[in-house]
Amino acid sequence: MGTEANFNFSFKEIQKLVNTNYGFTCSVKKLYGEKDLNYRLLTKKEGVYYLKIYPKNTDLNFVRFQTKLLNHLSKKTELKTPKNILSKSGLSYSHFRDKKGFIRYLRINSWIEGRLWSKINPITNNLRFELGKEAALITKKLKNFKSDFANAEMQWDISNSLWTKQYLKFIKRSSEKKIIKSFQNDFKEGLTKFKKLRKSFIHNDVNDNNIIVSNSLYSPEINGIIDFGDSINTQIINDVAITCVYAMMKSKNPLEAGVNVVKGYNSIFKLEEDEIEFLYLAIAMRLVISITKSSINKIENKENKYLLISEDEAIKLINKWDTVNQELATYSFRNACGYTAHPNESKFNVWSINRAFKIADIFPSIDKKNFYNIDLSVSSNWLENRFIDKPINLFENKINWLKKSESNSIISGGYLEPRILYNSNNYSRLGNNGIENRTIHLGIDFWLKKNTPIHTFMDGTVAVKTNNNSEKGYGGLVILEHKIKNLKFYSLYGHLCNVKKLKIKIGDKIKKGSKIGVLGNSNENGNWTPHLHFQLMLSLLNFKNDFPGVCYYSEKSIWSSICPDPNKIFKAKTLNKNHEDSDELLIKMREKYLGENLSLSYNKPIKIVRGKGQYLINDHGRKYLDTVNNIAHVGHENEKVVEAGQKQMSILNTNTRYLHPNIIKLSEKILKTFPKKLSKIYFVNSGSEANELAIRLMKNYTGQNDIIVFEGGYHGTTNSTVEISNYKYMGKGGKGESKHIHSIPMPDVFRGKYTGSESSKEYVNEVAKKVDNIISKGKSIAGMIIEPIISCGGQIELPNNFLKNTYQIIKKNKGLLISDEIQTGFGRVGEKFWGFQLHNVIPDIVTLGKPMGNGHPIGAVVCTKEIADKFNNGMEFFSSFGGNPVSCVIAISVLDEVKKNNLQKNAKVVGNYIKSELKKVSKKFPIISNVRGKGLFLGFELTSNKLNPLPDQTNYLVNRMKEYGILMSSDGIDKNVIKIKPPLVFNKDNTDTLIYFLRKVLKEDPMQVKL
Ligand SMILES: Cc1ncc(COP(=O)(O)O)c(C=O)c1O
Repeated sequence: MGTEANFNFSFKEIQKLVNTNYGFTCSVKKLYGEKDLNYRLLTKKEGVYYLKIYPKNTDLNFVRFQTKLLNHLSKKTELKTPKNILSKSGLSYSHFRDKKGFIRYLRINSWIEGRLWSKINPITNNLRFELGKEAALITKKLKNFKSDFANAEMQWDISNSLWTKQYLKFIKRSSEKKIIKSFQNDFKEGLTKFKKLRKSFIHNDVNDNNIIVSNSLYSPEINGIIDFGDSINTQIINDVAITCVYAMMKSKNPLEAGVNVVKGYNSIFKLEEDEIEFLYLAIAMRLVISITKSSINKIENKENKYLLISEDEAIKLINKWDTVNQELATYSFRNACGYTAHPNESKFNVWSINRAFKIADIFPSIDKKNFYNIDLSVSSNWLENRFIDKPINLFENKINWLKKSESNSIISGGYLEPRILYNSNNYSRLGNNGIENRTIHLGIDFWLKKNTPIHTFMDGTVAVKTNNNSEKGYGGLVILEHKIKNLKFYSLYGHLCNVKKLKIKIGDKIKKGSKIGVLGNSNENGNWTPHLHFQLMLSLLNFKNDFPGVCYYSEKSIWSSICPDPNKIFKAKTLNKNHEDSDELLIKMREKYLGENLSLSYNKPIKIVRGKGQYLINDHGRKYLDTVNNIAHVGHENEKVVEAGQKQMSILNTNTRYLHPNIIKLSEKILKTFPKKLSKIYFVNSGSEANELAIRLMKNYTGQNDIIVFEGGYHGTTNSTVEISNYKYMGKGGKGESKHIHSIPMPDVFRGKYTGSESSKEYVNEVAKKVDNIISKGKSIAGMIIEPIISCGGQIELPNNFLKNTYQIIKKNKGLLISDEIQTGFGRVGEKFWGFQLHNVIPDIVTLGKPMGNGHPIGAVVCTKEIADKFNNGMEFFSSFGGNPVSCVIAISVLDEVKKNNLQKNAKVVGNYIKSELKKVSKKFPIISNVRGKGLFLGFELTSNKLNPLPDQTNYLVNRMKEYGILMSSDGIDKNVIKIKPPLVFNKDNTDTLIYFLRKVLKEDPMQVKL
């Protein structure tokens, strides 16, 4: 196995060669190759070509075979394979004599433009699907390709892969040696059957350097598959396996990656069940060949690095592949090809149609016939957050209460229910798309008393007897095997008493109606209230001492085939499954009923059904880490806040026209956080309403109409708040600035009108000029409204002394200052409780909203006594909902939670940590040109070196982060700022997760812009 890679021709020689044989002039670039010499030719007129010079002593039949194959592929086809270019003498190949006198063959092909698969990041499931399709198009075309040529070089033929056995000694590490040996043995065992699978000519080397991907960064496509140099006549499944191998490399979950290739492949070329059965091993054997060849080459061809090109990745992958359950992989591939995941699913279904076993036979001591279907799904509002992750007695009490109220029924349910209850690390993994949790429940639970005797409903043999968690000595798990004619299946009984107390033994034949054991106590029961977990399985996979009772949502269709609905054999009417609304349906209905400028976040919107702390959770139980929702100030659905609201709502909700202590308690608590000068408060229902009232107060107090606002400022959605929101009136659909509104350039020292730390004065000057201009027209000002950190404008921190100095100008002209704290208030900025306190000023009016009710609609306006007194002009101020007892008690608990849990301090500490981590990231990825903000009110900006904004990259980043399970949002006048303003319970671990995925996305192709 020699290599020619060192035998080089000079570029001049190549140019001459091309000119003599093909008649065109070109420039030359060397490409890499295993045996052949490959070049890229750039001609002036005809474009780009690919030149291959075969090694000396190449069999002419081989060259002819290759050109024939390429010609066949390029005939009437949608395939994008390289086409043969005819030589001057009209042939698809040519030849010459090299310096040493050897005849050398050469061939020129059309060039397929694009990037190599090995260089693409990210490789998405969609791209893998498209790759599968492209590979299948080749198979389809080659199916009727005929040739007598037999490629002598058969080492890469998977069906011939057992040659690797004699080189096992070359594999250095014993761990890999063991894995390789076991794959070789398994393959050998099935070889006779394997050899009978469908054969055809195949590409045989769809590796990551032979797949050409388009240059489109945002939606890359497969441009073509090149290099048919290893093409042979062999089992078709081998090409699927090879394609899978390279599409699985570098992925966290190779099986999922492979499944997407297979799905794409099968959509074009239908795979047969017998072929799929061998796919797992064929993949393994391709890796075995690859690793063995690298090991040999390390010894025989030390200098040629190309030969080792994918060795590390192959070793990593074989180690991972070894941990993938072969049966599960086969079922996943079957599912991807439209077969039932488990081969016996249909048989089981047919058998079960006429069965009607009695569930009551499992617990004959219970004299109840009905079932009450309990809803423990993620969206269940029966399962309040306070019952999750809490001492079990809370949940147990709730179940016991339900048992009493539904005393004629057995509380039960849960088949394929997405549950949020499984929170420990045992239930989560880092997959190709971020962290995923096992949430889909595979059995039915029956809530019964501890010690309830459990019997079997049909004859069986004890296959497994173990403890649910042997380390902690939890309760028993028994699996029985049932045989019926040509079908075998299993029934599982979980959460029994400790196995030591169980009399049955593995291998015991158990007759229908016999007792297996008794139900365990809570402490024997994974610390859950006693219940029987009953599950059916068509296979035990490789589990000897355990069996999963929950699966990942992404694998639901596979596991639901392995574990059929137990109710198929019982047919109890009330044990039905829950129904789900599809996301597509919800989108359609939104479009039908709601105004269409009600926008949805993300290119592919997400459906959220539960919030908890710093997480939002979708209906499949996928947890998203939330860096966006500052309204959920003290954590999504904070238990104390929820409880306070629920309790108050259950006794009274009226309005401010009656005496009630809640409004007083809340007023006191809020006003205590303000300087003495701000001593009056009005309650409203939203931030917009608060600003609306603030403007009324300001105009009423000053008798003036003209207001100073800021570029990028947003203050609400009502008529007058849109009028003062430059972000809106100058944005899309905006009607421009009203006569009495006067905007000042956004004081952005990074990318604004004036930059640098000294530019504060220049911005102050802008305000002074504006005020002078108003006065010069014989008018005066009502005042100025500003956010202490401008949010929608792009998390713009006000420059030093800017607010203090502008306020002096406003004050001097008898205007008022409104500080809009709707985003920044309640401790979010960390150092201070209110944003204005960062600037050493005391405004005249402060508006509050968003975080105040942690999601409940409540807002407020705080002002001086003088302003309030003047507003009291005879016209009643009344807001139907403002200040009602429910809203007030909710806001009280928000304030209490901030204090009790030290959330302001947390905002400061974690905010500083995020900021410093982001700064580190920005050193490595200079596309992040600025990191700013205070506490947990941060932003980072994506620009070129010349500070040109990069909104497309920003949008890409936000959407990709969402796919990895991190919710982020972008804003700013140029839509190039990512805002970080999570619930204040966000912690350092969350930051590490955020930064981990951020770094990952920043490495992806669309983020690689020339700065
Ligand atoms: C600074 C600021 N002011 C006012 C508002 C309006 O508040 P709401 O949506 O509660 O009416 C918002 C909302 O985003 C805001 O960010």
